[in-house]
Amino acid sequence: MVDLAAVEKNYRLAVELAPGTRTVAVVKADGYGHGAAEVAGALAARADAFGVASLEEALALRRAGIAKPILLMAGFFAADELDELAHQRLDTVVHCREQLEMLLAARLDGPLRVWLKMDSGMHRLGLAPESFGDAYRCLRAAPQVSEIVLMSHFGCADETDNEFTVRQNDRFRRWTREIEEPTSLANSAAVLAWPDCHGDWIRPGIMLYGISPLDRPTDAVARLEPAMELVSEIVAVRELRAGEAIGYGGRYVCQRSTLVGVVAAGYGDGYPRHAPDGTPVLVNGRRARLAGRVSMDLITVDLEGLGDVAVGDPVELWGKSLSAREIANACGTIAYELFTGVTSRVPRAYRR
Ligand SMILES: Cc1ncc(COP(=O)(O)O)c(C=O)c1O
Repeated sequence: MVDLAAVEKNYRLAVELAPGTRTVAVVKADGYGHGAAEVAGALAARADAFGVASLEEALALRRAGIAKPILLMAGFFAADELDELAHQRLDTVVHCREQLEMLLAARLDGPLRVWLKMDSGMHRLGLAPESFGDAYRCLRAAPQVSEIVLMSHFGCADETDNEFTVRQNDRFRRWTREIEEPTSLANSAAVLAWPDCHGDWIRPGIMLYGISPLDRPTDAVARLEPAMELVSEIVAVRELRAGEAIGYGGRYVCQRSTLVGVVAAGYGDGYPRHAPDGTPVLVNGRRARLAGRVSMDLITVDLEGLGDVAVGDPVELWGKSLSAREIANACGTIAYELFTGVTSRVPRAYRR
């Protein structure tokens, strides 16, 4: 179940935290597993642009009727994509010399808005600060280019005590001081925790889906509302004796007589296979503990202290009452991975 009203509410919070900026709502990877078309549809009247990872993702949004600007956040990968970018009015990142050369050599139907990316210290994508000015001047003079946005990306903004974000911001500002163009820096973490590092265009992703990337709670974080609920049901209740082991490999051995609930969800649905014993699972809204290895279609939970539990009772794997962050922490991953890992066999319903 995906709550689109929660997405809208989280979007409004992002805008409130960064007043006067414009927003790229990041919906790559199928809207972080929430459905890119549905999320973009819910935000279409408010968002200034949408962010995706590839031309294919952008075209899927256009096919779904999204007319707002769409930004390819890693740009194009081959010159033959450029015609389609112009035709579909897609914005592109330019992060390297190869892309710059392909763009300058292209003959396009119309000019593109380009987001010129600087590597301010994360060392993933982006032009070195020293070559940024030259690249900018080439683009500014190019008929293939309409507007230019200067952008960079933070590597550690989720760590609220890590001054690296300030250093990245300072480096970006220093090397763009003489260029008068709008800027774009902030992912969700920077929107939430680094108000001096927002730039003119913010790029929130995970916070739209109601999850904080920050390493500590804040007042703003408390206002986020999770949009995704991964739910299922109890399909069997078993009473096991002390010494009996549950599931593959017999990983969990009952220390006492144990009531075990079997839930219809497994790694075939995107529930993490490496979830350890004790990972919380909500049964009838109350916390049970994972007991035994996750299988493809089923998990098993210790129902101790939960009172009467019957076949058909509701189960929440993560959602509004059990944060995906907590499950991710228990499993040594992040909510982003859990969300994007939910598989296509899980029926998706939307609430507005
Ligand atoms: C360039 C860029 N901007 C913004 C985002 C959104 O990040 P978040 O989901 O942490 O807000 C991403 C996500 O990976 C990104 O790659």
